[in-house]
Amino acid sequence: MKNHNIITVVAYLLLCCSLLPSSTTALLLPSPTQHIVSRPHHNRQPTLTSLHVTSSSSINEDDSPRTLISKGMNSFCNGDVSTSLQYFDKANDSVPDNKLTPYLWQRGISYYYLEKFQEGHEQFSLDVRVNPLDVEEIVWDIACLARMNDSRFFPVENQMSLPKGKKDRRKIMSTVYSLFRNDGATEYDLREAGHDSNISDEFYSLFYLGLYCEIRGETSKAEMYMKMAERSKYATGAGYGDYMSACARVHCKLRGWVV
Ligand SMILES: *[C@@H]1O[C@H](CO)[C@@H](O)[C@H](O)[C@H]1NC(C)=O
Ligand SMILES: *[C@@H]1O[C@H](CO)[C@@H](O)[C@H](O)[C@H]1NC(C)=O
Ligand SMILES: *[C@@H]1O[C@H](CO)[C@@H](O)[C@H](O)[C@H]1NC(C)=O
Repeated sequence: MKNHNIITVVAYLLLCCSLLPSSTTALLLPSPTQHIVSRPHHNRQPTLTSLHVTSSSSINEDDSPRTLISKGMNSFCNGDVSTSLQYFDKANDSVPDNKLTPYLWQRGISYYYLEKFQEGHEQFSLDVRVNPLDVEEIVWDIACLARMNDSRFFPVENQMSLPKGKKDRRKIMSTVYSLFRNDGATEYDLREAGHDSNISDEFYSLFYLGLYCEIRGETSKAEMYMKMAERSKYATGAGYGDYMSACARVHCKLRGWVV
């Protein structure tokens, strides 16, 4: 009976994922592109200040994939990245035939922070197949590739790219994309693009500048940008519950950067 319920939920989940346009699937399985869409619910999301609440909770066999993903996200936001990975793995394993795997972008981010870059690369590569217009997935994949090679330079032909003629709807993300792919935009361009826009664009520009400097081994600049991202108006205000705001907090915490 219990299994039957799970299967029903999963079947529904998968049906929705396969039938609906990607912006609608966000309601079920939020992806990095869709933070903005899901932001109004931010007060439901966990925060680093609510520490320790979920980190010791055990994995419940009855949890639906959705619950497992949400518990994993809670653990991550609380700074417990290894527990988050356990939840995401469990969510993945609870759905047959790898059907959920390409939607587990959160697991890719956990892999990155656990320095499992090959696994991160595999996760993001799968994600891009179902969500080809998502610059953030591509950029995180580039970050994993860069960290694996421990090199400042990585040939662009190894990187995933947007389909020809397509771009991310968000202007800021086009600049992020170009910077990570090293095909035009500079660090300065991304800073300017963030300055010239609203607080969410400002946050995203600082966040990805931090990540970019980190993968290039420019640690002090990475620290400066990531702390600015964490302290930004967006990450401390309207966007506090955005998973990427939590990511900035977790990033600073794991690197020992006191904000
Ligand atoms: C994901 O789950 C599937 C079961 O659907 C399993 O076969 C696969 O090994 C899992 N992959 C990872 C990377 O955990
Ligand atoms: C490192 O980069 C080279 C290309 O420069 C690539 O062929 C190789 O697969 C990368 N190594 C790893 C471990 O990713
Ligand atoms: C911020 O501005 C960008 C355009 O640069 C727009 O796409 C985005 O929706 C805006 N975000 C908010 C929260 O207003």
